[in-house]
Amino acid sequence: MSSGDPLADSVILWTRLVPTDPLPADDIAVDWEVATDDTMQNVVATGTGTAFAALGHSVHVDVTGLEPDTRYHYRFRVGDFATEPARTRTFAAAGTTPERFRFAFSSCQNWEQGYYTAYRDLIDQGELDAFVFLGDYIYEYASGGYADPRGRETGQDFECVTVDEYRARYALYLSDPLLRAAHAHVPWIITWDDHEVDNDYAGASSEGDDAVDAFLERRAAGYQVWYEHMPVRLDPPTGPEYPIHRSFAHGDLLRFHVLDTRQYRSDQQRKEPFIEALGPAVQERDEALATSPDHTMLGEEQSTWLEDGVAASTAIWDVLAQQVFMFGANAIAGSDPPIIVVDTWDGYAGERERILESIGAAADNLVVLTGDFHSAAVGQLRSDPFDLSRPVIGAELMASSISSGFFDDVAVVADLVGPAIVANPQIQWFDARRGYTICEVTPESWRATFRAVADPFDENTTVDTISEWQITAGTPGATQV
Ligand SMILES: [Fe+2]
Repeated sequence: MSSGDPLADSVILWTRLVPTDPLPADDIAVDWEVATDDTMQNVVATGTGTAFAALGHSVHVDVTGLEPDTRYHYRFRVGDFATEPARTRTFAAAGTTPERFRFAFSSCQNWEQGYYTAYRDLIDQGELDAFVFLGDYIYEYASGGYADPRGRETGQDFECVTVDEYRARYALYLSDPLLRAAHAHVPWIITWDDHEVDNDYAGASSEGDDAVDAFLERRAAGYQVWYEHMPVRLDPPTGPEYPIHRSFAHGDLLRFHVLDTRQYRSDQQRKEPFIEALGPAVQERDEALATSPDHTMLGEEQSTWLEDGVAASTAIWDVLAQQVFMFGANAIAGSDPPIIVVDTWDGYAGERERILESIGAAADNLVVLTGDFHSAAVGQLRSDPFDLSRPVIGAELMASSISSGFFDDVAVVADLVGPAIVANPQIQWFDARRGYTICEVTPESWRATFRAVADPFDENTTVDTISEWQITAGTPGATQV
């Protein structure tokens, strides 16, 4: 049970019927109600949704006619069964400027690389206005693939390819009580990354260079089952093409521009040789490819949508909710061309430069939220990150992962990342622990608090604040508090 994609007058409610016995092959009616109190006494909206058999008996309800900037509680009923009430809210109406918005964000919850303790801590933070999830909701690997021996096992001895396999994986992930509690606590705004389909896929190119037709069939299965499980304001997909970029505003305070950096992207560069110690993920940049106008991360339609959306935005804070880091990282100091992580925006430098110059000029204040990298960072955004003479046009906040590992070998992190960070002054702070980030936003300032999980393999571990950053409206970039 979850909610998401709030507008000023509506929110999406989601649930899915989980069979104890096989469910009938029919659609099933599911009643829902929305109240202003957690005991569900003051009911303000009711209705009946449909659990569509063709969509894994999932239910998506768009509850309309709600009051702006208001907290609500909701539950579902089937027959004699009623769910526990859960919390949600609407966003503020256009033309108003709320005094405060408090949300959290994170990504990457590999079942086999740690517990979801970060969500317990998130719930302990009290009322939040939204939780933004930046992808890798599931991992498609067969059990044991990229697993940590200290972690849980999925017990699913298959890499997800078919609808049934993806459904089995989501069902397992959603059996986690902390994940379910986090959904019941706050409305989510969700995008996907690669693992909802296939590691490091790009457009129609799979990681393993499968035949395009076969991969698009797999992509369609992954997209469908993602839709079946997410509280998103979207129609169900009807094939491998599925636009999910969308935007949400909390009055004129803040607007999220939610991006998809997988579906439309050109394949990552595949240069030889690569940095042997790090594998093909880290290579000297192919400058001609990275700056080619045809080499894209967002695709033409989405990048135009983004530029138009930021230009039209009346928000004090324009926020990109997206996946891979933009702040740039040269793995070896002074290397020219830089040594880059080819899956990040560094591999798509021409498009990054064009988009950052456009939206940097159009936004009153630009903040980029990033996931993917299983580690936390704060960075300055320049249209060319390695040209420090260019102006800083915004701040990037990279939240760590809920459970996915970076390198759990402390020495590797120290040897590898330490020197790289020093060589990249635009990266102002870095930490490899798992966790999430809380943001408290007002018209004047943005405070980002990074929370880190002490031991990802201990369900009762502590979660603590490890760093706090401040962005002042009108002054691009973040400073440590
Ligand atoms: Fe991930």
